[in-house]
Amino acid sequence: MSAGRPGSGVTVRVPAKVNAQLSVGAPRPDGFHDLANVFLAVGLYDEVTVTPAETLRVTCSGPDAGLVPLDGTNLAARAAVALAARHGISPDVHIHIAKDIPVAGGMAGGSADAAAALLACDTLWATGSTRDELLAICAELGSDVPFSLVGGAALGTGRGERLTPLPIRGTFHWVFAVADGGLSTPAVYGEFDRLTAGTDVPAPAAGEDVLRALRTGDAGALAVALTNDLQAAALSLRPELADTLAVGMSAGALAAVVSGSGPTTAFLVADRWSAEKAADELLMSGTCRSARVALAPAPGASVV
Ligand code: C5P
Repeated sequence: MSAGRPGSGVTVRVPAKVNAQLSVGAPRPDGFHDLANVFLAVGLYDEVTVTPAETLRVTCSGPDAGLVPLDGTNLAARAAVALAARHGISPDVHIHIAKDIPVAGGMAGGSADAAAALLACDTLWATGSTRDELLAICAELGSDVPFSLVGGAALGTGRGERLTPLPIRGTFHWVFAVADGGLSTPAVYGEFDRLTAGTDVPAPAAGEDVLRALRTGDAGALAVALTNDLQAAALSLRPELADTLAVGMSAGALAAVVSGSGPTTAFLVADRWSAEKAADELLMSGTCRSARVALAPAPGASVV
């Protein structure tokens, strides 16, 4: 991997994700939940550029830029700090995020920026980190960050950070309806706990039907197998998402599901034409802020 010209920046392109299955267990003593998380990277991308600077700073462009924190809490800044600390370097870079992934939407946009900043800084600083070292830092930064680095399709276990790559065939067509405002991931997990309190929450497990649908590239079978254990919690906090799901289904989607902790809703469709039709109808319905068409699987974070 090239570090680019001396003094120049490094840009990394990184995809969003959707969950083909999100199976959630009971809360653990550390507050996290064990998951069986079937991640699928989708072709909506952020681009993160790091350039040597006097001091660490973060800027962001794109329609949702105003929603992105630019201080030390930004996960991309934390990635630069974590890598620099590991190598005894000062994290003096300007991180610019060209944001296209919905913010706080359940598509791992913040995690994507962290993985991208980590790879970009690693390339810029030529630290010689191994892939496993980068994945370990990703796992410290957040449960979804390792997958953003890896992309494709993978099963995440533990809190989602332990990845097993999954075989996947063909291309799946998706439409994403972006809701107004975000949903807090901890709040959605908290609502899951409230809704399941007093019940026997089974240990999470990946469904053989989901894995087979991905392996065989069968969109019809994937449509039947899509599940998200956080969906009821997201709908409880944002009941109007049910309207968006219904519009997408009546527009011809094969399946509709809340993406991760929401509030973005995801629609699996048969082909490009169906995707454009569903996106148009979702937008015209007024039940979402925007509708985006994307293909899966998409590659993980990579230097451009
Ligand atoms: O790992 P990450 O920082 O993205 O998690 C954000 C929050 O989501 C956690 O603080 C926790 O409330 C919740 N979470 C969880 N179980 C997981 C992943 C996330 O409870 N497996």
